[in-house]
Amino acid sequence: MNIILAPMEGVIDFALREILTASGSYDRAVTEFIRVNDQLLPRSVFVRYCPELANYGLTKSGTPVYVQLLGQHPNWMAENAIRAADIGAPGIDINFGCPAKTVNRHKGGSILLNEPDLVHDIVSAVRKAVPGHIPVTVKMRLGYEDKSLAIENALAIETAGATSLAVHARTKIEGYKPPAHWHWIAKIEKHVKIPLIANGDIWSKHDALDCVQQSGCEDIMIGRGALSLPNIADVIKNNDAPASWSDVCDALVLYSQYKRDDKKQNFLPNRIKQWFSYLKREYPEAAIMFQHIKTLRELDEIVVIINRKYL
Ligand SMILES: Cc1cc2nc3c(=O)[nH]c(=O)nc-3n(C[C@H](O)[C@H](O)[C@H](O)COP(=O)(O)O)c2cc1C
Repeated sequence: MNIILAPMEGVIDFALREILTASGSYDRAVTEFIRVNDQLLPRSVFVRYCPELANYGLTKSGTPVYVQLLGQHPNWMAENAIRAADIGAPGIDINFGCPAKTVNRHKGGSILLNEPDLVHDIVSAVRKAVPGHIPVTVKMRLGYEDKSLAIENALAIETAGATSLAVHARTKIEGYKPPAHWHWIAKIEKHVKIPLIANGDIWSKHDALDCVQQSGCEDIMIGRGALSLPNIADVIKNNDAPASWSDVCDALVLYSQYKRDDKKQNFLPNRIKQWFSYLKREYPEAAIMFQHIKTLRELDEIVVIINRKYL
């Protein structure tokens, strides 16, 4: 089974990828989406989203990081994919899942699932543009408003030459509302031959096994579950015990030490609090500690509390 660390814009950045993939149990990761409009983005944009490009597109543990592009113009997607490949991206991933209103309003992300022909043209243009040895993977939801085009979109993606397709088993309208409809991935699988990767609501080993069984997929992708249980890939693959709260605190401290060039005030304190919002699902200690840090604005003050571990 391959386990892929899902892309999460504004959440799973370079530092989190380093920490979450450290044990080597993820088979790959995907960057936050890079928005492609009608221009060729400068090299600096790719390096900002994917600092791993300076290390052949690998995290420290050697996990490949695919660069994710989101856009509606086949030719500009292709141009930017070429640039990402030139800089060293080990793979290109195309986003047809983003539900954000502003992105959809400008014809990006999941709204494109209403136009399977355009989905095909985008994937095909990117596939033809980048060297054959570089995988072009795709990520989609089951549809925008409903699931009526799910199979058609998957077929369009396959015909266009995609290497694999990750399916977040919900429509855009369903947002993140449980449950994820894993059995729908099995329906798609009857029609396509490319590997499908099942995604959505995998929070535990039990979920992973259920998902594999219901979706018929060998491979899975995990997003929020990787944040709530930071060693979930080891738990699933190696039967490891869930990370202790003490280990999680060490990871939080490590996360606080990564340098970011983000100029936004309270960037790191806010990112740490954001991670707590996911950890609370798995660790009662996180809910208690969050009460102590939620009003703090200084990173150092927050780290002092985290270092106390048990409050
Ligand atoms: C805050 C947030 C940001 C996300 N950003 C991206 C993104 O940049 N690209 C993408 O393809 N999916 C993105 N997703 C969707 C996830 O990759 C994943 O498909 C979804 O969270 C369902 O999987 P999960 O239940 O394992 O989290 C995002 C999800 C969340 C919650």
